Amino acid sequence: MSAPIIQAKGISKRWGSVHALHEVDFNVYPGEVVGLVGDNGAGKSTLINIIAGALHPTTGSILVDGKEAQFKTPTEARDAGIETVYQDLALAPDLTIWANLFLGREIVKGGLFKWIGWLDRKAMIERSVQDLERTQIRIASVGQRVGRLSGGQRQAVAVGRAVAWGSRVVLMDEPTAALGVEQQARVAELIRSVASHGVPVVLISHNLPQVYEVCDRIVVLFRGRIVAELRPRDTSIDQIVSYITGSSASKVAE
Ligand SMILES: Nc1ncnc2c1ncn2[C@@H]1O[C@H](COP(=O)(O)OP(=O)(O)OP(=O)(O)O)[C@@H](O)[C@H]1O
Ligand SMILES: [Mg+2]
Repeated sequence: MSAPIIQAKGISKRWGSVHALHEVDFNVYPGEVVGLVGDNGAGKSTLINIIAGALHPTTGSILVDGKEAQFKTPTEARDAGIETVYQDLALAPDLTIWANLFLGREIVKGGLFKWIGWLDRKAMIERSVQDLERTQIRIASVGQRVGRLSGGQRQAVAVGRAVAWGSRVVLMDEPTAALGVEQQARVAELIRSVASHGVPVVLISHNLPQVYEVCDRIVVLFRGRIVAELRPRDTSIDQIVSYITGSSASKVAE
């Protein structure tokens, strides 16, 4: 197997007496879709947010391409090609859709314009339309403010943004919870298409049939520990459920 793009080594996270993660080792390899599942409060978002630079581990380290990465902010992780769809979406409701897609990485015109710092609105709007076509989101215009969108439309904007910019890995925390059936299927296709270009996707979801169908590998967290690592072809959804609920003993695949 090729070298991992992301290695989380011995990650623990504590908030006072809350021990959200215990010594978690989690790798992400090129081109794979990894499901990260577990009950409410199991530590899934905490792990993803640590990889994304949004939280800092109490102990342990994150390596990107074998080198230790100490992301102080999510912006630093994004600059390293790590894009995240956060569970709370992290969109700016007062800005338009296209401005959200380019938040923090605005296209500036070249030459004299660059010196003045003019933003190339036309280029950003054109690219936004293309990015969102991939999610097949139904919206009137990318000029709409995100605050006016439905929950599902917002989720599609967050997915479109992550997929457009994630060059090393895309982390998705419940990306389809607010989506209709057709759009869920579309996001599943998009995840497979991103992975087929070599960019791995980590998918957190409570929708087990979807995880089972779209993922190459499924990692189960139970009370802050990894208790199973399974491949859908060797396991059933019922077995995954038994690890999630803690009724099965640990099983970590070779
Ligand atoms: N900022 C915080 N301060 C204190 N405790 C926190 C904080 N964030 C998360 N926790 C705790 O850490 C544990 C793991 O939470 P986390 O959000 O990672 O769970 P999760 O697996 O993503 O759950 P869900 O499926 O409900 O989203 C929980 O016990 C939660 O209460
Ligand atoms: Mg969560």
